[in-house]
Amino acid sequence: MDVPYIRSAFPFMREHPAARYLDSAAMTQVPDAVIDATVRALAERSNPHRGMYPLAERVTEAYESARSTVRRFIGARTPSEIVFTRNCTEAINIVARSWAQETLQAGDVVVLTVLEHHSNIVPWQQLASRIGVVLTWIDCDDAGVLDLDALDEVLVGGRVKLVSVTGLSNVLGVQPQLTEIIRRAHAVGARVCVDAAQLVAHQPVDVRALDCDFLAFSGYKLYGPTGIGVLYAKSELLASMPPVMGGGMMIQEVRRDGFIPADPPARFEAGTPPYVEAVGLAAAIDWLSQFSWQDVVAHERDVLAAALDELRSTPGVRILGPGKADAITGCISFTVDGVHPHDLTALLGERGYMLRAGHHCAQPLHRRLGIGASARIAIGIYNTEEDVRGLGAAIADAARTFAR
Ligand SMILES: Cc1ncc(COP(=O)(O)O)c(C=O)c1O
Repeated sequence: MDVPYIRSAFPFMREHPAARYLDSAAMTQVPDAVIDATVRALAERSNPHRGMYPLAERVTEAYESARSTVRRFIGARTPSEIVFTRNCTEAINIVARSWAQETLQAGDVVVLTVLEHHSNIVPWQQLASRIGVVLTWIDCDDAGVLDLDALDEVLVGGRVKLVSVTGLSNVLGVQPQLTEIIRRAHAVGARVCVDAAQLVAHQPVDVRALDCDFLAFSGYKLYGPTGIGVLYAKSELLASMPPVMGGGMMIQEVRRDGFIPADPPARFEAGTPPYVEAVGLAAAIDWLSQFSWQDVVAHERDVLAAALDELRSTPGVRILGPGKADAITGCISFTVDGVHPHDLTALLGERGYMLRAGHHCAQPLHRRLGIGASARIAIGIYNTEEDVRGLGAAIADAARTFAR
């Protein structure tokens, strides 16, 4: 991996060469290619799927071409399986408010795991209060490995209709065994929704090989703009799903006494769509596609291994999760005895290390680990071992400051 070349493609890295940006699980920085594509889309705009004049047609083409780029990126069968949303959260909410609300009944079971982000918890809790579905949780061990025997026990109960699971934990950096979970869920006729918010930036995703039923992610964690996310769903599921929001674009016909919804994906894209952001997301995917996944994975693993070395050599640090570079992807979270993660990351920030602290929108997981908050090192394609070097000493300094 030519990391200097990669870094030179990011204005943030060029303008802040000394910054150690370690918060990419929250939001990645953006390469020039995305900014350029976004500016071009802003400079000559019109509404997709509206006008017939040449500019309007070019915009429609660009919007639909962005959909095709996403289709290729995740291996969907057709572009119509790709719904543009605001973010991953909205995508999961569409699954809950449309497919699940239409299909599930009181007493049916939705399985979640303790690794989930709140975005893959709260929509199901809201569904439970609306229609009486039962939420069942799968626990993990201290290394973040999910208890698949417990999953089997729940699945034999016969009322599981959906398993909604993260593809990559935004706290522990562990990847649930998606293929196995999907196989077991399908064996009892349950559907599987994958929260791929973290996964898509770090590993290749192929929805057909995985055979997941739904998959959701956001653009801004994938080197793309904010305000754009993706819901993938199998065609036959989308076809059976009612729209969630009503308005322009999502109809075939409107009369005084009602409306006929458009076919998917337009059915789920009410109102003027985030055209500029969709073009920016496609540019991010195109930019990322110049690298081989094998190289990206190997490079990011080396950076995480260096970060683990720093943490391991620092007294008072508790590494959460497996603590092995080959068992994690994207991020590592940790605590330091006697220092609140917020105080720690504020002090680290003064030294140029940009890390996030808190519950990372995963309170059930933090409760499971017996803590209220953690600090997180989260890397992207542009990070180097240099970015994490000295972190151990800086943490030790911070701990001394708070011990005084
Ligand atoms: C695992 C996971 N799921 C879902 C989300 C929610 O993403 P968004 O806020 O873009 O909807 C995040 C964001 O941090 C995440 O890490």
